[in-house]
Amino acid sequence: MVEAAGVTDSLPAPALDVERIRADFPILSTSHRGRPLVFLDSGASAQKPRQVIRAMSRMMEEAYANVHRGAYHLSECATAAYEAARAACARFLNAPRAEDIVFTANSTMAINLVAHSFGRGMLRPGQAVVVSEMEHHANLVPWQMLRDAHGVELRICRITDAGELDLDHLRDLLADGRVGLVAVTHMSNVLGTVTPAGAIARLAHEAGARVLFDGSQAAVHRRVDVQAIDADFYCFTGHKLYGPTGIGVLYARSELLAAMPPFLGGGDMIASVTLERATWADPPAKFEAGTPPIIEAVGLHAAIDYVESIGMAAIEAHEHGLVQHALAVLPRVPGLTLYGRARDRGGVFAFALEGVHAHDLATLLDRAGIAVRAGRHCAEPLHARLGAEAGTCRASFGLYTRAAEIDYLAEALHSARRFFG
Ligand code: ALA
Repeated sequence: MVEAAGVTDSLPAPALDVERIRADFPILSTSHRGRPLVFLDSGASAQKPRQVIRAMSRMMEEAYANVHRGAYHLSECATAAYEAARAACARFLNAPRAEDIVFTANSTMAINLVAHSFGRGMLRPGQAVVVSEMEHHANLVPWQMLRDAHGVELRICRITDAGELDLDHLRDLLADGRVGLVAVTHMSNVLGTVTPAGAIARLAHEAGARVLFDGSQAAVHRRVDVQAIDADFYCFTGHKLYGPTGIGVLYARSELLAAMPPFLGGGDMIASVTLERATWADPPAKFEAGTPPIIEAVGLHAAIDYVESIGMAAIEAHEHGLVQHALAVLPRVPGLTLYGRARDRGGVFAFALEGVHAHDLATLLDRAGIAVRAGRHCAEPLHARLGAEAGTCRASFGLYTRAAEIDYLAEALHSARRFFG
C-alpha cells in the first residue's frame, strides 16, 4: 500500500464496475465528430455524474438562498447544506475538524491564499520556500510573486530522470534551516508521479518548515489522509473530482488558520467593522469573503458522496490496472516517447510522437473522437527539464476510463504515425 496517500488498510479493493459507472455520466454516451467520445482529458477537468448534476439542480429548484445571512428558513437550509459540504470535505481528507476546511474557487486560489496570507503574514524576508521542478504553474508562480514582493528566497528541488522528487536534494535545500515552507505536488499533472508525501513532510518538519501539498491530481486518484501524511496545508479542486467548477478546497492546520491574516476582505469574514477598521471572524469564515460558491459546494458534496460510494480503494485499484495496461500498450507505438517512469504513479501519461507537433497529433486524435490535452499543461519549466519545450500530448484517466479506450488510443497513434509518414 502507498505510504504517500496515508493509506492504512490492506484488504484487497473491491472491483469497480466501470460500465455501471459510465451509465452515471450522460456525456460519455455522446458522439463527437461522428465517433463515440473517448475522453482522455480528466486530468484537465473530469466529467460529471448525474448525481452531481441533479444535486445542483435540486438545490437551485428547491433549497437556494444566500448562506450565513438570512434569518429565514430557506437561508438556514442553504447554510446547513453549505456547512454539510465542508464536513464532507473534512471527512474526505480526514481533517480533524470541519473548520479546518476553507472553500476557495479552485486549487490555484487555495495556493494563492497560502502565498498571500501565510507567505506575507508568517514567513519572514530571508526565509525560503521550496518548490519542485515538476510543479504546475499554480504552485510556482504565486511563490515567484511572493519572492518578488516579500523578499523570500525561492529554491527549486530537482527531479530525477525517472521523474521522481530528488529527496537527497530536498535534504540539501533544507539543511541550513532557513526554509519556512516546502510546497510540492502530491501527483504531477504531466508525469503522473505520486510524491512520497509522508517522507516529504517528515523532512520539512525536521528542518522546521511547514509543508503544502497540491493535491489537485492526487485527491482524485488516491485516498488522502492529511493527518497520516502530516500535511500543514493540502488543496484540491472540485472539477477534477467529478464535481463542479468554481470550488476548491484548502485544508490547513487549525493553529495556522488562526494565526494567518485574511487574504480577501469583504462581507462575512469580519467580526466587526467601523469606518476606520475591522476585526476578523474566526476561521474558516475569515478566509471566505463575499458570497461563497454555495451551489458548487452542494455539487462537490455530491461528488464526494459519489466517489466514496464507489470507494477510493476501488478507484485506485481500477486506475492502477489502467496504468499497467497503458505501460504495456503505449510503448509498442514506434517513435512514441512516454514521459515519466516513477515507481509510484497515477493515470496521467504525457507523450510525444517523433516528428509530429503535439497540437497536430491532438487534432488528428480528435478526428478519431479521442480527447487529449496538447501543450505544456501549465508546466513549462517541467517541459524544459524534459527537453520537450514544444509541448506534449497528455492522456489522463478517470474512474470511468476503460482499458479498451487505451487500446483505441494506441491504434490511433499507430495510424497517426502512418499518416505523418
Ligand atoms: N491543471 C489542469 C491540467 O493539468 C488544468 O490540465
